[in-house]
Amino acid sequence: MLYHELGSTGEKVSILGFGCMRLPTRGHHDKIDEVKSSQLLDHALENGVNYLDTAYPYHGISNSEGGNSEVFIGEYLHQRDMHSQIHLATKLPTWLLQEPVDMDRFLNQQLKRLKTDQIDFYLLHSLKEKNWFRLEDLGILDFLDSAVADGRIKYTGFSSHDGTAFFKEVVDSYQWDMCQLQYNYLDEQIQVGKEGLEYAAEKGIGTVIMEPLKGGALANYVPPEVKKLWEGFNRTPAEWAFRYLWNIPQIHVVLSGMNTMEQLMENLKIAEEGHPDSLSPQENEVMQQVKQAYKDKIAVECSACGYCMPCPSGINIPQCLSYLNQAAMLNDISNIKSQYYFMLKDTEHASKCLECGLCEEMCSQKLPIREKLKEVKETLGD
Ligand SMILES: NC(=O)c1ccc[n+]([C@@H]2O[C@H](COP(=O)([O-])OP(=O)(O)OC[C@H]3O[C@@H](n4cnc5c(N)ncnc54)[C@H](OP(=O)(O)O)[C@@H]3O)[C@@H](O)[C@H]2O)c1
Repeated sequence: MLYHELGSTGEKVSILGFGCMRLPTRGHHDKIDEVKSSQLLDHALENGVNYLDTAYPYHGISNSEGGNSEVFIGEYLHQRDMHSQIHLATKLPTWLLQEPVDMDRFLNQQLKRLKTDQIDFYLLHSLKEKNWFRLEDLGILDFLDSAVADGRIKYTGFSSHDGTAFFKEVVDSYQWDMCQLQYNYLDEQIQVGKEGLEYAAEKGIGTVIMEPLKGGALANYVPPEVKKLWEGFNRTPAEWAFRYLWNIPQIHVVLSGMNTMEQLMENLKIAEEGHPDSLSPQENEVMQQVKQAYKDKIAVECSACGYCMPCPSGINIPQCLSYLNQAAMLNDISNIKSQYYFMLKDTEHASKCLECGLCEEMCSQKLPIREKLKEVKETLGD
């Protein structure tokens, strides 16, 4: 296993982290298969993985209740007396905070669930532009200061799926130790993106990558045009995706939600070669062609500049168009559909369009947005 220093924390973290959002289950999402999950973790830890990522709602029945991932991980580490050897990250469910006392309440509950008196990396989960000011008003940054001071948290961080500008604003608002962002070779220009990653790394903030395989799509739903470009290289799609990320010096940890021993063993093997700047010029060139092949399949040339917003009906137009593009690029419609419903509120969906056309007047690319929103509705449902 290779290790990186996580930003200015100086902590030596394995370049492959174990994402505990997709542990093997027994039928239902909230029923973790403890035997299989323990076997996976045993093997990962024996082979040098020292970073585990969980969160309050993982493996729960809804986002508003504590799931079983934290409980399972707490028990797993406690039984093996391994808390001190592992960098454990979990997250405060920011969307459930109503009043200042909630922050202490969640943290104390999470410490109990994780069977520890200190959480190594405590992240504000899924920060969004629309709730950030409310969280600041609740005193969330003072809360982090006090939890570090009294030792309940060792390092602070946040995760976000919002855009680059908001991400940079959050980066600048506090002395963060680390952050977590979605990044893979298709997502360099959406969400936080390359610009955000480089900004955080420049400031000495540790960078942890989520969804490196786009939730599995980049390994399991590769279109034939892309497979053709990889002919003759003897690398799997997962290997291309991980090597692409570890090639980037600003990336410290790549999390993967592995749920079979085969996936884990493959990812451990790929990690052995995951040195920064290690792809050959020819491999870099192929990856540029791969990105282009995906781009050629996109449905709408939206640059997510946001000029079309706000929509009077409340639709999140750039996000709707982004999901339309993902549906066109990847042969993975059911996963894209579930993300479309999970990540956007009902009021933000394309089906709310009243065809007023204000967005088209503002669009910097002069896109036929009303037509495209109809396509979103046809493709992803009403
Ligand atoms: N902070 C946040 O808001 C947030 C959001 C998302 C994720 N996360 C964290 O980030 C972690 C990583 O994200 P992710 O789970 O989405 O990672 P990912 O690696 O993009 O997707 C995981 C899926 O990829 C597939 N996979 C993994 N290795 C493979 C291999 N070698 N070959 C083929 N398929 C492979 C599996 O899919 P199949 O099961 O379909 O085979 C697995 O479930 C999560 O587990 C979670 O801890 C945080």
